[in-house]
Amino acid sequence: MTPPFTTAIVPAAGLGTRFLPTTKAVPKELFPVVDTPGIELVAAEAAEAGATRLVIVTSPGKDAVVEYFRPQPELEEMLQRRGKSALVDAVRRAQGLIRVETAVQEQALGLGHAVGCAEGNLRGDDEAVAVLLPDDLVLPTGVLIKMARVREEQGGTVLCAFDIPREQISAYGVFDVEDTADPDVKRVHGMVEKPSPERAPSTYAAAGRYLLDRAIFDALKRITPGAGGELQLTDAVALLISEGHPVHVVVHRGGRHDLGNPGGFLRAAVDFALQHPEYGPELREWLRDRIADG
Ligand code: G1P
Repeated sequence: MTPPFTTAIVPAAGLGTRFLPTTKAVPKELFPVVDTPGIELVAAEAAEAGATRLVIVTSPGKDAVVEYFRPQPELEEMLQRRGKSALVDAVRRAQGLIRVETAVQEQALGLGHAVGCAEGNLRGDDEAVAVLLPDDLVLPTGVLIKMARVREEQGGTVLCAFDIPREQISAYGVFDVEDTADPDVKRVHGMVEKPSPERAPSTYAAAGRYLLDRAIFDALKRITPGAGGELQLTDAVALLISEGHPVHVVVHRGGRHDLGNPGGFLRAAVDFALQHPEYGPELREWLRDRIADG
């Protein structure tokens, strides 16, 4: 049996150009979905799936993302003294989830390069690692747990796929798939980054959750710049497939939010806020009136 993973990598080195001008000063991973930054939601998802270590790949100037996971004893004491125990719990939550380490990507050379920057953080027994893209919220959580189960059965590498309308497919890494007995698990015969709709091998797209066999780190050293002139994780996965490495996808039938652009972020914030016991009911009413006003 293949052992489960304990290390998760979160590439958070991007410049956040789609969110300028705010990202001049604030990393987008810290934007609050209601009151909790996206990076904490992703860390909680990794921990829920069994990860005990989170390697955050940052770039110079984005230290605040890692800082967020450090304890703040003075703040905790002050809140404690004031009897604000719910806030003490909220402040402590992130640091209690998972052990955070950092890797630095000095230059923005692509997602594949960013993941490769975390190789030095791996331990001898890391036979596979999870990668979670912090822009993607995959809902409900739990897809990594299913992906780990598929790796136990099939070995190799397992990715998460969404069935996307063909006209939107060129924003994604796209899989060439074959059905298995399980309608939610497909064998992958190829993968291509950001194809045109006509050239896309299917409408199954990579959606920000990867369970990668350690062999990926060797493949990442052998790829050359691909789509957008960047070193693409997709191309390293495609290289492994061409060498006979087993790759499967779990098709996730739930929801998804893209936190990386204002439109997607707003939708996520409203979605989470509507479910929030404190803010939800009032927001629902206000939205109804606001929309009726045109
Ligand atoms: C990245 C990956 C792509 C994947 C997408 C999911 O692209 O390169 O394969 O489908 O994330 O969000 P990006 O969105 O960084 O351009």
